Amino acid sequence: MIKETVINIRNKIFKFFYKFILKPILFQMDPETVHDGFTFFGKILGSNIVTRKITELMFAYSNKMLNQRVLNMDFKNPIGMAAGFDKDVNLTDILPSVGFGFAEVGSITGEKCEGNPKPRLWRLKKSKGLVVYYGLKNDGCEKIARKIKDKKFKIPIGVSVAKTNCKETADLQKGIDDYSKAYNTLKEFGSYMTINISCPNAFGGQPFTDANSLSKLLDEIKKHQNEKPIFLKLPPDLPTNKLDEIIETASKYKVSGFICANLTKDKHNKEINARIIDKDIPKVGGISGKPVEELADEVIKYVYKKTNGKYVIIGCGGVFSAKDAYKKIRLGASLIQMITGMIFEGPEIISEINLGLVKLLKRDGFKNISEAIGIDNK
Ligand SMILES: Cc1cc2nc3c(=O)[nH]c(=O)nc-3n(C[C@H](O)[C@H](O)[C@H](O)COP(=O)(O)O)c2cc1C
Repeated sequence: MIKETVINIRNKIFKFFYKFILKPILFQMDPETVHDGFTFFGKILGSNIVTRKITELMFAYSNKMLNQRVLNMDFKNPIGMAAGFDKDVNLTDILPSVGFGFAEVGSITGEKCEGNPKPRLWRLKKSKGLVVYYGLKNDGCEKIARKIKDKKFKIPIGVSVAKTNCKETADLQKGIDDYSKAYNTLKEFGSYMTINISCPNAFGGQPFTDANSLSKLLDEIKKHQNEKPIFLKLPPDLPTNKLDEIIETASKYKVSGFICANLTKDKHNKEINARIIDKDIPKVGGISGKPVEELADEVIKYVYKKTNGKYVIIGCGGVFSAKDAYKKIRLGASLIQMITGMIFEGPEIISEINLGLVKLLKRDGFKNISEAIGIDNK
């Protein structure tokens, strides 16, 4: 109780500092420059024990009620960093100190990729979202594998793989070969692997949301699959018959779960439009944050119900508070990922969410987070 009060006061101080001092400055700057700056700074903070410990004192929070064992991985809390923030695996040393229970790196592709031309990241300040048009910028699987070959991770790390964003991989077989190269090169490193079939910004669209193509991709992955769990990352804007086809296809392979969901590219969707208050949004890119929250919740709800909770669901999209995270958990998510909420609310949001989850679990009479999974969706 005393610990919770101290953490609460600490979080409020950092929240004030972020909201009224740091954020107004950062939000005047180019978003990609800020992202690169945080990566640079985070890498330095993670590089030695002193700065890691100081960061931990400033941001971390732990409580046994949040501990879970999922697919043989131990999670200290359910809040993870979503794919796309740490594209080239620079932040895995500092993220546990910031309070994350796990993190997903990437998406990493078969070949190095410069991504789409700049600008490729915009803030939707009023709608609390981002427009993302990076186009899978990353250093490529071989360079990253060399960099992390001796790395020990303190928290479960998921490795997200995708196909290189270029004209050549728009050919189905070349696309499969590219995914397969990234998967094989990186499969020994993380605790789980994610196959990202839902990048809205890649050349040739999202061909692997089609059941036949997905089946061919999973056939190839299966040849080299190890014991580590595989997740499929779904888009938030597929019709339910398409989701059914993906679930049906996944059931024929060793797929352990789904990440629900990625950015939406569907700017004509009425629900998305209703949530976008900002004017003049870029024509390109996918949208994150509050505008996708409800769509992501619908996907979680649908997949959990459809599969009777057979798959592990990682809920992602528009989580800005403990209430948002708890809603996803009660709909069927075992774990949560986020990026945009952290950018808008500051890094203390991670422990604020974890602290808030403990309060909500106690309020509802649960002893552990796992008891709340899917409770509103049975
Ligand atoms: C800057 C940025 C880059 C992203 N890049 C990737 C990526 O490379 N791979 C991926 O699977 N998702 C990527 N995403 C999507 C996020 O992982 C997440 O699904 C989405 O942002 C919704 O969560 P949020 O509302 O908490 O940000 C990216 C998101 C952002 C904001």
